Amino acid sequence: MINSNIRQLEINFNYWYVVASSKEVKNQPLGVKLWNQNIVLFRDNSGTIHALEDRCPHRQVKLSHGKIIENNLECAYHGWQFNPQGDCVNVPYLDDNQKLPKNCKIRQYPVKELDGFIWLFLGENATETQPLGVPEWDDLNYIATVSVIHYQGHFSFLIENLMDMYHGHLHQDWQAWTDAKLDKIEETENRVDAYYQAQSYYKIDKIWSISQLFFPSLRQLHPEPLTVSYIYPHWFSTLGEYFKIYCLFCPISLTETRAYLIHFTSLNAFWRLHKLPIKFRKFVKDLCFGSAQKLLDGLVQQDILMIEEEQQAYLQYPQRQGYEFNRTIKSVQRLIQHQAPPLT
Ligand code: FES
Ligand SMILES: [Fe+2]
Repeated sequence: MINSNIRQLEINFNYWYVVASSKEVKNQPLGVKLWNQNIVLFRDNSGTIHALEDRCPHRQVKLSHGKIIENNLECAYHGWQFNPQGDCVNVPYLDDNQKLPKNCKIRQYPVKELDGFIWLFLGENATETQPLGVPEWDDLNYIATVSVIHYQGHFSFLIENLMDMYHGHLHQDWQAWTDAKLDKIEETENRVDAYYQAQSYYKIDKIWSISQLFFPSLRQLHPEPLTVSYIYPHWFSTLGEYFKIYCLFCPISLTETRAYLIHFTSLNAFWRLHKLPIKFRKFVKDLCFGSAQKLLDGLVQQDILMIEEEQQAYLQYPQRQGYEFNRTIKSVQRLIQHQAPPLT
């Protein structure tokens, strides 16, 4: 039995969530939010990333307004300093007879930088679970494009959208895929795999096929397997051999979600390219970064309009249930419910 209150369910803290891309954390602290918790990310001298609660224990302002001094984070207000473990290590105006406040410690979060993203763990026992990772990120045979999905709505609306390939209808103008047909669903306690057959517009098997991105007349519909997986709490998809897409989730609250959509075009078919020097291949990879930006941003904009409206409609009439023909939605909701802590 599916909880009709799926939109009230919380996230499971015992998974790694993505709170930023590596590029976003430069030499200034960065404030992020994951499930109502304000967190400050910063890099020490060696570039290693750290995550602390974004709240100065002195007057409760955000530490992300501050600066990094050596390896410590300095609060903007009165200049107290905190080390990467969250201990207060300096109050700049202490008298000789005053000592640093005892137990003046802020919460430190387990954090990892992996495959171009910053992964954070809110629960206990971070060592027992591994982040999903994005192995194609540094693979010379994959060209990446990243788009950020930030919307006002529960995370379940986005994962339902991503698992329901019948919504190709919405994106007809962008020619991403069409005529999806669900073959089968596989479920375990932390993932749902849905296998569709679809028609794809692109075939990236010759070097000139890249030009299909720019000239619609070169595109030709042909059948491809389309697989979408909810690998809790993230999403992964493949369309034929040529495309892989990830969606890395950062649920902010019950009614706000951020996620990174990463689209990879495979160069695996271009065996001549593989013989070229690594340096050149790296150059090509970097040069082509973002080549699907217009397409990806266009799709994201259309999806956001729909899922924000779903959230609004839910808030207006929480008891109303829609009709559903895609079995995948039920599987996704079952997984969300299985992973969520019980409602209190
Ligand atoms: S509020 Fe942070 S040092 Fe005073
Ligand atoms: Fe979409």
